[in-house]
Amino acid sequence: MSRQIHSRRIEGLDKNIWIEFTQLAADYPVVNLGQGFPDFSPPNFVKEAFTRAINSDLNQYTRAFGHPPLVKILAKFFGKLLGQDIDPFREVLVTVGAYGALFCFFQALIDDEDEVIIIEPYFDCYEPMVRMAGGRPVFITLHPKPVSGRLTTSADWVLDPAELAKKFSKRTKAIIINTPNNPLGKVFKREELQVIADLCVKHNVLCISEEVYEWLVYDANEHVRIASLPGMWERTITVGSAGKTFSATGWKIGWAIGPKDILKHLQTVHQNSIYHCATGAQVRNTKENAFTAMNVQR
Ligand SMILES: Cc1ncc(COP(=O)(O)O)c(C=O)c1O
Repeated sequence: MSRQIHSRRIEGLDKNIWIEFTQLAADYPVVNLGQGFPDFSPPNFVKEAFTRAINSDLNQYTRAFGHPPLVKILAKFFGKLLGQDIDPFREVLVTVGAYGALFCFFQALIDDEDEVIIIEPYFDCYEPMVRMAGGRPVFITLHPKPVSGRLTTSADWVLDPAELAKKFSKRTKAIIINTPNNPLGKVFKREELQVIADLCVKHNVLCISEEVYEWLVYDANEHVRIASLPGMWERTITVGSAGKTFSATGWKIGWAIGPKDILKHLQTVHQNSIYHCATGAQVRNTKENAFTAMNVQR
């Protein structure tokens, strides 16, 4: 009997660059520049928190949407950065890495034929995740804008505001931002984010802001969170990754933060797919604010 086994949702999505690169790096004596993780060791207080969790018998399930002490500190910490009073239980979702947050966002909010604007070059999983949700990716490319005839930094790659405006249509449901950007390293400036924010507000479009490298910003660059711009909190889900922040990518802990009327839909997907993330990996250091400690340590 000839019958197509796979669902239409995954048609054409069987290749994955990281699976291929990781295998090639294992097969040949080369340096793996493919998968990105910080080049510092996880600080001791991070490792100690995990060890303490296991030794204190925190080995069973915790709350499905995030271990309570973790969601509380995330709400408090990001509340200050975003200028919002964040409800830890309704506006924070702990996920299996940033991947989990992205998956929940697209599954929860994108319907067949909805358009999602993706800025090129982009982290590879955005496109298949949009397609798996039935959505249609609409691409816009960062263009080189040499300063004094030369391209010197990733900041010289910019969006053309007129071109971006044309990408918004009646079908546009969301735009995905990634700052600092992988692969370019570009840190979007406030003015650039403001152009995007104005279009989101004008067209009533959702924004998913992928900020997994938010703490790896150097020199005079400033990390600006688009959810902190006027009119954006209510339409933005901000995604972070403990893996990238604390150099513990193997633990796969990430989060989605946003207004409760949007976040509740991500919770619906989470509770019906992943349900729960590893308890031990969510236990935080009790003595100090881990994020502040990271800044001191870097
Ligand atoms: C831009 C970007 N988003 C998400 C991820 C995945 O993050 P996590 O391991 O927290 O799922 C990566 C990993 O390389 C990344 O570069």
